[in-house]
Amino acid sequence: MGSDSQKAYYRKVLDSLGRRLFVVSPDLRILAGNHPATKQGGPDVIGKKCHEHYYGEDAPCSTCPVPEVLETHRRVVRRKKDADGGEGGSQCLQATPIFDGEEIEAVTVLDIDLFQLASLETELTRSNAFLRNLIMSSVDGIIASDMKGQILIFNEAASKISGYTIDEALTSLNIRNFYPGDGAREIMRKLRSGEYGGKGKLKSCEVDYQRKDGSIFQIRLSAAIVYDGDREVASVGFFYDLRERREMEKKLEKTRIQLLQAEKMSSLGKLAAGVAHQLNNPLGGITLYAQLMMEEYPLEDAAREDLKRIIDDAERCRNTVRELLEFARQTRQEIRMNDLNHAISQTLFLLENQALFHNIEIIKSLEPDLPKVPSDIQQLNHVFMNIILNAAEAMEGTGQLRVETLPSDNGCGILIRISDTGPGIPEDALPHIFEPFFTTKEQGKGTGLGLSLAYGIIENHSGRIWAESKTGEGTVFTIELPMGQPSEQE
Ligand SMILES: Nc1ncnc2c1ncn2[C@@H]1O[C@H](COP(=O)(O)OP(=O)(O)OP(=O)(O)O)[C@@H](O)[C@H]1O
Ligand SMILES: [Mg+2]
Repeated sequence: MGSDSQKAYYRKVLDSLGRRLFVVSPDLRILAGNHPATKQGGPDVIGKKCHEHYYGEDAPCSTCPVPEVLETHRRVVRRKKDADGGEGGSQCLQATPIFDGEEIEAVTVLDIDLFQLASLETELTRSNAFLRNLIMSSVDGIIASDMKGQILIFNEAASKISGYTIDEALTSLNIRNFYPGDGAREIMRKLRSGEYGGKGKLKSCEVDYQRKDGSIFQIRLSAAIVYDGDREVASVGFFYDLRERREMEKKLEKTRIQLLQAEKMSSLGKLAAGVAHQLNNPLGGITLYAQLMMEEYPLEDAAREDLKRIIDDAERCRNTVRELLEFARQTRQEIRMNDLNHAISQTLFLLENQALFHNIEIIKSLEPDLPKVPSDIQQLNHVFMNIILNAAEAMEGTGQLRVETLPSDNGCGILIRISDTGPGIPEDALPHIFEPFFTTKEQGKGTGLGLSLAYGIIENHSGRIWAESKTGEGTVFTIELPMGQPSEQE
């Protein structure tokens, strides 16, 4: 470029500023100016005092920055006089010295608008902070990386899910660190293929994710490539930990099954109670008339024997009816504060001496400070007896029986756990064991009422009873009973 064309070019640059830029001598005469500074007055401007030209004043303006520049040899910014002569607007003059050796040869003066600058800057800071907050407070993890895999954005949820601190991720990690094997490359392939939600997009899919501690689990990820025109500049992923969701689904499913079970038991209970009531009166009649015959007629011994059998069998039927009624919560309860450790020990003492228990090792692990529980002790003894007998019968007289009492997890109740090392309960039988008349024992050996009775009694105590079992390993029955109000305990 020749020196003339260069000059013209510089002039163009200075004019393009769109704000007044001019140079003054130390005595405030205009030496040069860009187009916005000289458009009024044209070439005549040169040599005029600036205050005269711009403000029509004989004396320098009170707000002129030039004297201070001459004194301090530094750049000075001062607010300009506004239209009515006052100060305080956002229009400023920035004056900068031009040196000739040590001396100031001239001063450039540039007209600037602080308000515009400041509001641009605040606007930018504000929207940056807003975006940052938005990203940081997201419940989902957010990771963005450049095309080399270097992490650009890593929010708090991502830090929680991955186990890496935000600092670690931003300074020393690559996107590949978060996906085991070739996971990151596979995600990029899917993103570019356009088959998973359009070009550069990956709609919600499950992928393996690796934590800092090396453990691998599944996340649900949506991702996108960020383009600048056609150029790929970054990728961003939004994800959440699937484990929490799975856990929740499992809990929901469990509650659903429990509800179903409770509903089923309640309708079975009504049915059982109906049948039991129907049977109660005729059974009473059978017993009564059989006894009358025994007492009032001179009978042969053989006939007496038969009548006695009728009475005994009727008695057995009445017991069954009583158990059915108890299952259906149709009997009266006598609630007192009871020490269940004591009740369990008593039941065990009774059973230990039976032949069935001679080769069973009994392990008692009873919580010494177990709080008393409002309960009908007769009924609970019945429950313990049924479960322990079932266990001994399942183990066919050899194995280990474990009886534990402990406070429940939520601290509002107690747990009684009875485990055996028997054959376990097959998966398809487990949902039915609490139903009345469900038995796997041969005819005449079991009525299938033991556990349904236990279920009814525990329900009646506002508690819960459930069984866990693994075939071949054994069975655990757990009973949870609420402690009740402190006033009840006294
Ligand atoms: N500890 C256990 N191990 C294996 N199976 C068990 C265990 N406890 C119960 N069961 C199964 O549950 C079924 C139902 O038990 P429940 O006590 O209600 O009736 P039962 O023992 O068969 O008869 P009943 O107790 O009326 O004499 C049993 O037949 C058995 O198949
Ligand atoms: Mg039983």
